[in-house]
Amino acid sequence: MKRFIEHQELARDRRFIRQANIAADLLATMPDDVNAVVDLFEKIGPVIEAGTRGTAAEPLYDRFGPAFTLMTLNEPIRPGEPGTEDRLKMRMHGIYVGELQALEGAGRSLWDFPDAPWEFKMNMARQCWDEARHVQIFEKLLEHVGGEVGMYAESTFLFEAACADDPALRVAGVNRALEGLACDVFRDNIEFAKQSDDELMEQSMDYVLADELTHVRFGSEWVAEFCKDDPERLKRARDFRRETDRRFNFGGARSNEEGAAIPIAWEDRKFAGFTEEELEDLAALGGEGPSRATMKQAIEILVSRFQAGSAIDEEVAS
Ligand SMILES: [Fe+2]
Ligand SMILES: [Fe+2]
Repeated sequence: MKRFIEHQELARDRRFIRQANIAADLLATMPDDVNAVVDLFEKIGPVIEAGTRGTAAEPLYDRFGPAFTLMTLNEPIRPGEPGTEDRLKMRMHGIYVGELQALEGAGRSLWDFPDAPWEFKMNMARQCWDEARHVQIFEKLLEHVGGEVGMYAESTFLFEAACADDPALRVAGVNRALEGLACDVFRDNIEFAKQSDDELMEQSMDYVLADELTHVRFGSEWVAEFCKDDPERLKRARDFRRETDRRFNFGGARSNEEGAAIPIAWEDRKFAGFTEEELEDLAALGGEGPSRATMKQAIEILVSRFQAGSAIDEEVAS
């Protein structure tokens, strides 16, 4: 079997549609400026649209245009609010494919580094076992909220981080940054489940979160171990983790601000080996780029322009 595959080589059956993660990549570099966000999303509209065609997100694009991705990410998911059902399905689908990629990533790390310490390989094997259970749990949770596998496009951002050629970078990017993000999302979803009296979701999420904390801890411990005598390597691992975190703040949607769509799971992360200093830095990263208020204004402009454009198109057509 081949070692070190490219992320594009990740295999899927025909239920799955692949999507470029262009919105998250570009949002990470945006200034806090309404017009800049509006211009960007109008420019990448066709790419966003292409990722919705043939999926359950197609009617959302037709109604709201390219801003629908921002609407999905910018506001917290609250029971009974407009759009909650769709956003919950999208979130569950996103987690489901993330779990699949986490399983594949941990499996690759076991295979790609035959000379790594035995304990590292044992930890990666343990992680495969956990992620395989998570895939099954989220397949069921996706059905529980009315969704199905393959209904939305899959972006392979987690697997991309799992293709780094240094195991220290892999566990920094996957285990610390992205599974750290999973902890933030799961903690938020446990709160949502409590508010919705959804005990099945609450318990399943809590169960998976316990495993994810262990995986983040693997990341914290192995970054320290791999880099213990090599400050340069430690810096590379830290930079890779911060860059991954920056991409997945989703323009400040994941932050420590009041009312954030995805609050940072501070206590959980401390338990998993994040230092207070690292958490302060993560919160500061979340404060960079467009603010929630900027995003809100940009969404309003984008939706009204898109809907005005659609109305003209309809008039011309008739
Ligand atoms: Fe997982
Ligand atoms: Fe995990």
